[in-house]
Amino acid sequence: MAKRYNIAVIPGDGTGPEVINEGLKVLISASNRGGFELDFTTYDFGGERYLRTGEILPDSAIEEFREMDAIYLGAIGHPDVKAGILEKGILLKIRFSLDQYINLRPVKLYPGVNTPLKDKGPEDIDFVVIRENTEGLYTGAGGFLKKGTPDEIAIQESINTRKGVERCIRYAFEFCKKSKKSKKRKLTLCGKTNVLTYAFDLWERTFKEVSKEYPDIETNYAHVDATCMWMVKNPEWFDVIVTDNMFGDIITDLGAIIQGGMGIAAGGNINPESTSMFEPIGGSAPKYTGKNMINPLAAISAAQIMLEHIGESEMASIVEKGIMRVVFNDIKSLSAGKMGRSTTEVGDLVVRYVEEEDVSG
Ligand code: IPM
Ligand code: MN
Repeated sequence: MAKRYNIAVIPGDGTGPEVINEGLKVLISASNRGGFELDFTTYDFGGERYLRTGEILPDSAIEEFREMDAIYLGAIGHPDVKAGILEKGILLKIRFSLDQYINLRPVKLYPGVNTPLKDKGPEDIDFVVIRENTEGLYTGAGGFLKKGTPDEIAIQESINTRKGVERCIRYAFEFCKKSKKSKKRKLTLCGKTNVLTYAFDLWERTFKEVSKEYPDIETNYAHVDATCMWMVKNPEWFDVIVTDNMFGDIITDLGAIIQGGMGIAAGGNINPESTSMFEPIGGSAPKYTGKNMINPLAAISAAQIMLEHIGESEMASIVEKGIMRVVFNDIKSLSAGKMGRSTTEVGDLVVRYVEEEDVSG
Protein backbone atom coordinates (compact mmCIF):
# COMPACT_ATOMS: atom_id res chain seq x y z
CA MET A 1 0.00 0.00 0.00
CA ALA A 2 1.16 3.49 -0.79
CA LYS A 3 2.61 5.43 2.10
CA ARG A 4 0.35 8.12 3.39
CA TYR A 5 1.29 11.31 5.22
CA ASN A 6 -1.00 13.72 7.04
CA ILE A 7 0.10 17.29 6.58
CA ALA A 8 -1.37 20.29 8.41
CA VAL A 9 -1.26 23.35 6.16
CA ILE A 10 -1.32 26.86 7.63
CA PRO A 11 -1.17 29.31 4.71
CA GLY A 12 -1.32 32.27 7.14
CA ASP A 13 -1.19 35.95 6.25
CA GLY A 14 -0.31 38.22 3.34
CA THR A 15 1.36 36.34 0.53
CA GLY A 16 1.47 33.15 2.63
CA PRO A 17 -1.53 31.56 0.88
CA GLU A 18 -0.14 32.35 -2.60
CA VAL A 19 3.24 30.78 -1.97
CA ILE A 20 1.73 27.81 -0.14
CA ASN A 21 -0.51 27.14 -3.16
CA GLU A 22 2.56 26.75 -5.33
CA GLY A 23 4.23 24.56 -2.72
CA LEU A 24 1.16 22.33 -2.62
CA LYS A 25 1.19 21.98 -6.40
CA VAL A 26 4.79 20.83 -6.24
CA LEU A 27 4.10 18.47 -3.33
CA ILE A 28 1.23 16.89 -5.22
CA SER A 29 3.32 16.33 -8.33
CA ALA A 30 6.13 14.87 -6.18
CA SER A 31 3.69 12.52 -4.47
CA ASN A 32 2.30 11.39 -7.83
CA ARG A 33 5.71 10.70 -9.16
CA GLY A 34 6.99 9.17 -5.92
CA GLY A 35 3.98 6.94 -5.41
CA PHE A 36 3.00 8.16 -1.96
CA GLU A 37 -0.05 10.01 -0.70
CA LEU A 38 -0.30 13.36 1.00
CA ASP A 39 -3.42 14.25 2.95
CA PHE A 40 -3.64 17.97 3.54
CA THR A 41 -5.73 19.58 6.29
CA THR A 42 -5.85 23.35 5.98
CA TYR A 43 -6.12 25.68 8.99
CA ASP A 44 -6.93 29.36 8.61
CA PHE A 45 -4.98 30.63 11.61
CA GLY A 46 -3.46 34.05 11.13
CA GLY A 47 -4.20 37.77 11.28
CA GLU A 48 -7.53 37.69 9.42
CA ARG A 49 -9.03 35.06 11.67
CA TYR A 50 -7.72 36.82 14.78
CA LEU A 51 -9.25 40.14 13.72
CA ARG A 52 -12.55 38.45 12.87
CA THR A 53 -12.94 36.14 15.85
CA GLY A 54 -10.29 37.04 18.44
CA GLU A 55 -8.97 33.51 18.24
CA ILE A 56 -5.24 33.06 17.72
CA LEU A 57 -4.43 29.35 17.97
CA PRO A 58 -6.48 27.12 20.26
CA ASP A 59 -4.88 24.27 22.21
CA SER A 60 -7.19 21.87 20.40
CA ALA A 61 -5.33 22.65 17.15
CA ILE A 62 -2.00 21.85 18.79
CA GLU A 63 -3.45 18.48 19.80
CA GLU A 64 -4.49 17.86 16.19
CA PHE A 65 -1.01 18.82 14.96
CA ARG A 66 0.52 16.23 17.28
CA GLU A 67 -1.17 13.52 15.24
CA MET A 68 0.14 14.85 11.93
CA ASP A 69 3.30 13.87 10.09
CA ALA A 70 4.29 17.50 9.47
CA ILE A 71 3.06 21.09 9.39
CA TYR A 72 3.52 23.29 6.33
CA LEU A 73 3.37 27.00 7.18
CA GLY A 74 3.23 30.02 4.86
CA ALA A 75 3.72 33.27 6.75
CA ILE A 76 2.49 34.91 9.91
CA GLY A 77 2.17 38.69 10.36
CA HIS A 78 -0.59 41.18 9.65
CA PRO A 79 -0.24 44.98 9.34
CA ASP A 80 -3.34 45.58 11.51
CA VAL A 81 -2.21 43.34 14.35
CA LYS A 82 0.34 44.58 16.89
CA ALA A 83 3.78 43.00 16.43
CA GLY A 84 4.30 40.02 18.70
CA ILE A 85 0.72 38.80 19.05
CA LEU A 86 0.63 36.46 16.08
CA GLU A 87 4.33 35.64 16.19
CA LYS A 88 4.10 34.54 19.80
CA GLY A 89 0.57 33.20 19.59
CA ILE A 90 1.02 31.08 16.48
CA LEU A 91 4.60 30.54 15.38
CA LEU A 92 6.30 30.40 18.77
CA LYS A 93 3.36 28.59 20.34
CA ILE A 94 3.68 25.79 17.79
CA ARG A 95 7.47 25.63 18.13
CA PHE A 96 7.25 25.51 21.92
CA SER A 97 4.23 23.29 22.47
CA LEU A 98 5.41 20.70 19.99
CA ASP A 99 8.92 21.02 21.43
CA GLN A 100 10.44 21.64 18.01
CA TYR A 101 13.82 22.21 19.54
CA ILE A 102 15.83 22.45 16.34
CA ASN A 103 15.55 25.17 13.74
CA LEU A 104 17.38 23.84 10.71
CA ARG A 105 18.33 26.42 8.11
CA PRO A 106 20.37 25.44 5.08
CA VAL A 107 22.30 28.30 3.48
CA LYS A 108 23.07 27.28 -0.06
CA LEU A 109 23.73 29.49 -3.05
CA TYR A 110 22.36 27.84 -6.18
CA PRO A 111 24.14 28.33 -9.51
CA GLY A 112 22.69 31.31 -11.36
CA VAL A 113 21.61 33.14 -8.21
CA ASN A 114 23.14 36.51 -7.38
CA THR A 115 24.75 36.91 -4.01
CA PRO A 116 25.70 40.33 -2.63
CA LEU A 117 29.08 38.83 -1.72
CA LYS A 118 31.68 39.90 -4.22
CA ASP A 119 33.77 37.09 -5.69
CA LYS A 120 31.81 34.34 -3.95
CA GLY A 121 29.95 31.58 -5.74
CA PRO A 122 27.98 28.38 -5.13
CA GLU A 123 31.17 26.51 -4.15
CA ASP A 124 31.73 29.00 -1.31
CA ILE A 125 28.24 29.36 0.13
CA ASP A 126 26.94 26.00 1.24
CA PHE A 127 26.46 25.42 4.95
CA VAL A 128 23.75 24.71 7.50
CA VAL A 129 22.77 26.59 10.64
CA ILE A 130 21.31 24.55 13.49
CA ARG A 131 19.56 26.99 15.78
CA GLU A 132 18.24 26.03 19.21
CA ASN A 133 14.53 26.73 18.93
CA THR A 134 12.82 26.53 22.34
CA GLU A 135 15.01 28.38 24.85
CA GLY A 136 17.36 31.35 25.18
CA LEU A 137 15.82 34.79 24.95
CA TYR A 138 12.66 33.39 23.35
CA THR A 139 11.01 31.80 26.39
CA GLY A 140 9.33 35.02 27.52
CA ALA A 141 11.03 34.90 30.93
CA GLY A 142 11.37 38.33 32.49
CA GLY A 143 9.03 41.25 32.92
CA PHE A 144 8.59 44.89 33.75
CA LEU A 145 9.01 46.69 37.03
CA LYS A 146 7.56 50.18 37.48
CA LYS A 147 6.32 50.10 33.91
CA GLY A 148 5.64 53.49 32.39
CA THR A 149 7.54 55.40 35.07
CA PRO A 150 10.96 57.06 34.74
CA ASP A 151 12.33 54.23 36.91
CA GLU A 152 11.02 51.54 34.60
CA ILE A 153 12.94 48.30 34.40
CA ALA A 154 12.58 45.74 31.61
CA ILE A 155 14.16 42.33 32.08
CA GLN A 156 14.37 39.72 29.34
CA GLU A 157 16.16 36.60 30.46
CA SER A 158 18.02 34.02 28.43
CA ILE A 159 17.10 30.55 29.63
CA ASN A 160 19.61 27.81 28.87
CA THR A 161 19.05 24.37 30.31
CA ARG A 162 21.59 21.59 30.25
CA LYS A 163 18.97 19.35 28.65
CA GLY A 164 18.02 21.91 25.98
CA VAL A 165 21.60 22.81 25.12
CA GLU A 166 22.76 19.22 25.07
CA ARG A 167 20.00 17.88 22.84
CA CYS A 168 20.64 20.67 20.34
CA ILE A 169 24.39 20.08 20.32
CA ARG A 170 23.87 16.32 20.00
CA TYR A 171 21.53 16.86 17.07
CA ALA A 172 24.21 19.00 15.42
CA PHE A 173 26.91 16.34 15.87
CA GLU A 174 24.60 13.63 14.55
CA PHE A 175 23.75 15.87 11.60
CA CYS A 176 27.44 16.34 10.84
CA LYS A 177 27.96 12.61 11.03
CA LYS A 178 25.00 11.52 8.93
CA SER A 179 23.65 14.25 6.67
CA LYS A 180 24.89 14.65 3.13
CA LYS A 181 24.45 18.39 3.70
CA SER A 182 27.52 18.27 5.93
CA LYS A 183 30.28 18.19 3.33
CA LYS A 184 33.26 18.67 5.61
CA ARG A 185 32.09 16.94 8.81
CA LYS A 186 32.93 20.14 10.64
CA LEU A 187 30.91 21.76 13.42
CA THR A 188 31.30 25.34 14.59
CA LEU A 189 29.83 26.48 17.89
CA CYS A 190 28.73 30.10 17.56
CA GLY A 191 28.41 31.93 20.89
CA LYS A 192 29.66 34.80 22.98
CA THR A 193 31.85 33.19 25.64
CA ASN A 194 33.72 36.43 26.27
CA VAL A 195 30.66 38.28 27.62
CA LEU A 196 27.78 35.85 28.19
CA THR A 197 29.93 33.93 30.64
CA TYR A 198 27.11 31.88 32.14
CA ALA A 199 25.00 30.90 29.17
CA PHE A 200 27.84 30.20 26.79
CA ASP A 201 29.95 28.61 29.46
CA LEU A 202 27.24 25.97 29.60
CA TRP A 203 27.15 25.76 25.81
CA GLU A 204 30.93 25.49 25.50
CA ARG A 205 31.32 22.85 28.23
CA THR A 206 28.51 20.77 26.77
CA PHE A 207 29.94 21.14 23.27
CA LYS A 208 33.37 19.94 24.41
CA GLU A 209 31.93 17.01 26.33
CA VAL A 210 29.70 15.82 23.51
CA SER A 211 32.49 16.30 20.96
CA LYS A 212 34.47 13.50 22.66
CA GLU A 213 31.87 11.05 21.41
CA TYR A 214 32.44 12.23 17.83
CA PRO A 215 36.18 11.98 17.19
CA ASP A 216 35.64 12.14 13.42
CA ILE A 217 33.91 15.52 13.52
CA GLU A 218 36.19 18.52 13.40
CA THR A 219 35.08 21.23 15.85
CA ASN A 220 35.78 24.88 16.36
CA TYR A 221 34.32 27.96 18.01
CA ALA A 222 33.47 31.49 16.82
CA HIS A 223 31.93 34.41 18.65
CA VAL A 224 28.68 35.54 17.09
CA ASP A 225 30.04 38.91 15.97
CA ALA A 226 32.99 37.22 14.32
CA THR A 227 30.65 34.64 12.79
CA CYS A 228 28.82 37.48 11.02
CA MET A 229 32.09 38.80 9.72
CA TRP A 230 33.28 35.42 8.46
CA MET A 231 29.92 34.65 6.87
CA VAL A 232 30.53 37.67 4.66
CA LYS A 233 34.29 37.40 4.21
CA ASN A 234 34.87 33.64 4.12
CA PRO A 235 31.57 31.77 4.05
CA GLU A 236 33.42 28.74 2.65
CA TRP A 237 34.89 28.15 6.11
CA PHE A 238 31.55 26.99 7.44
CA ASP A 239 29.98 23.58 7.16
CA VAL A 240 27.55 23.25 10.08
CA ILE A 241 27.04 25.97 12.71
CA VAL A 242 25.23 25.32 15.99
CA THR A 243 24.04 28.24 18.09
CA ASP A 244 21.40 29.53 20.48
CA ASN A 245 17.97 30.84 19.57
CA MET A 246 18.65 34.58 19.32
CA PHE A 247 22.01 34.35 17.61
CA GLY A 248 20.55 31.74 15.27
CA ASP A 249 17.72 34.09 14.38
CA ILE A 250 20.15 36.86 13.50
CA ILE A 251 22.78 34.90 11.61
CA THR A 252 20.18 33.07 9.52
CA ASP A 253 18.86 36.33 8.12
CA LEU A 254 22.44 37.08 7.13
CA GLY A 255 22.61 33.55 5.74
CA ALA A 256 19.40 34.10 3.80
CA ILE A 257 20.67 37.22 2.10
CA ILE A 258 23.97 35.67 1.01
CA GLN A 259 22.09 32.76 -0.56
CA GLY A 260 19.94 35.12 -2.59
CA GLY A 261 17.39 36.48 -0.14
CA MET A 262 13.96 35.78 1.24
CA GLY A 263 12.80 34.55 -2.14
CA ILE A 264 14.66 31.29 -1.62
CA ALA A 265 15.45 30.80 2.10
CA ALA A 266 13.56 28.16 4.05
CA GLY A 267 13.88 26.06 7.15
CA GLY A 268 12.45 23.40 9.38
CA ASN A 269 11.37 23.53 13.01
CA ILE A 270 12.21 20.03 14.05
CA ASN A 271 11.25 17.72 16.85
CA PRO A 272 12.94 14.47 15.87
CA GLU A 273 10.44 12.52 17.99
CA SER A 274 7.24 14.35 17.08
CA THR A 275 5.64 16.73 14.56
CA SER A 276 7.94 19.15 12.76
CA MET A 277 7.02 22.34 10.90
CA PHE A 278 8.44 23.68 7.65
CA GLU A 279 8.32 27.31 6.55
CA PRO A 280 9.86 29.88 4.25
CA ILE A 281 11.98 32.30 6.31
CA GLY A 282 10.57 35.50 4.80
CA GLY A 283 7.54 37.28 6.20
CA SER A 284 4.03 37.83 4.89
CA ALA A 285 5.08 40.65 2.51
CA PRO A 286 1.68 42.42 2.70
CA LYS A 287 2.43 44.88 -0.08
CA TYR A 288 2.64 42.07 -2.62
CA THR A 289 -0.49 40.28 -1.46
CA GLY A 290 -2.79 39.11 -4.23
CA LYS A 291 -0.54 40.44 -7.00
CA ASN A 292 0.84 37.11 -8.21
CA MET A 293 4.31 38.68 -7.91
CA ILE A 294 5.88 37.06 -4.87
CA ASN A 295 8.54 34.40 -5.34
CA PRO A 296 7.19 31.01 -4.19
CA LEU A 297 10.58 29.27 -4.28
CA ALA A 298 11.22 29.72 -0.55
CA ALA A 299 7.91 27.99 0.21
CA ILE A 300 8.75 25.32 -2.36
CA SER A 301 12.14 24.89 -0.69
CA ALA A 302 10.36 24.48 2.65
CA ALA A 303 8.26 21.74 1.03
CA GLN A 304 11.46 20.14 -0.24
CA ILE A 305 12.98 20.12 3.28
CA MET A 306 9.70 18.62 4.53
CA LEU A 307 9.87 15.79 1.97
CA GLU A 308 13.40 15.03 3.06
CA HIS A 309 12.30 15.02 6.70
CA ILE A 310 9.38 12.64 6.26
CA GLY A 311 11.68 10.23 4.46
CA GLU A 312 10.88 10.92 0.80
CA SER A 313 14.48 11.77 -0.01
CA GLU A 314 14.36 10.85 -3.66
CA MET A 315 11.47 13.20 -4.37
CA ALA A 316 13.10 15.85 -2.17
CA SER A 317 16.16 15.81 -4.38
CA ILE A 318 14.05 15.90 -7.54
CA VAL A 319 12.22 18.96 -6.19
CA GLU A 320 15.54 20.59 -5.35
CA LYS A 321 16.75 19.94 -8.90
CA GLY A 322 13.54 21.53 -10.17
CA ILE A 323 14.14 24.61 -8.05
CA MET A 324 17.71 24.79 -9.32
CA ARG A 325 16.58 24.56 -12.92
CA VAL A 326 14.09 27.39 -12.44
CA VAL A 327 16.64 29.70 -10.83
CA PHE A 328 19.22 28.87 -13.48
CA ASN A 329 17.03 28.99 -16.58
CA ASP A 330 13.78 30.78 -16.08
CA ILE A 331 13.83 33.72 -13.74
CA LYS A 332 15.76 36.97 -13.87
CA SER A 333 15.89 37.62 -10.15
CA LEU A 334 14.64 36.08 -6.93
CA SER A 335 12.96 39.30 -5.83
CA ALA A 336 9.21 39.78 -5.89
CA GLY A 337 8.13 41.55 -9.06
CA LYS A 338 11.54 41.22 -10.70
CA MET A 339 11.44 37.54 -11.57
CA GLY A 340 10.13 38.10 -15.09
CA ARG A 341 7.56 35.43 -14.18
CA SER A 342 4.52 35.37 -11.97
CA THR A 343 4.14 33.42 -8.73
CA THR A 344 1.99 30.78 -10.40
CA GLU A 345 4.28 30.49 -13.44
CA VAL A 346 7.25 29.76 -11.20
CA GLY A 347 5.22 27.07 -9.40
CA ASP A 348 4.15 25.58 -12.74
CA LEU A 349 7.74 25.43 -13.94
CA VAL A 350 8.89 23.56 -10.84
CA VAL A 351 5.99 21.14 -11.30
CA ARG A 352 6.99 20.59 -14.91
CA TYR A 353 10.59 19.89 -13.94
CA VAL A 354 9.49 17.52 -11.18
CA GLU A 355 7.44 15.61 -13.76
CA GLU A 356 10.25 15.60 -16.33
CA GLU A 357 13.37 15.31 -14.22
CA ASP A 358 15.62 12.51 -15.36
CA VAL A 359 16.45 10.55 -12.21
CA SER A 360 19.59 9.11 -13.68
CA GLY A 361 20.99 12.62 -14.29
C1 IPM B 1 12.16 33.52 12.28
C2 IPM B 1 11.35 34.72 12.61
C3 IPM B 1 10.69 34.52 13.97
C4 IPM B 1 11.81 34.30 14.98
C5 IPM B 1 9.76 35.63 14.40
C6 IPM B 1 8.72 35.94 13.36
C7 IPM B 1 9.11 35.34 15.73
O1 IPM B 1 12.12 35.86 12.59
O2 IPM B 1 11.57 32.42 12.14
O3 IPM B 1 13.38 33.63 12.17
O4 IPM B 1 12.34 35.28 15.53
O5 IPM B 1 12.13 33.16 15.23
MN1 MN C 1 14.17 35.50 12.01
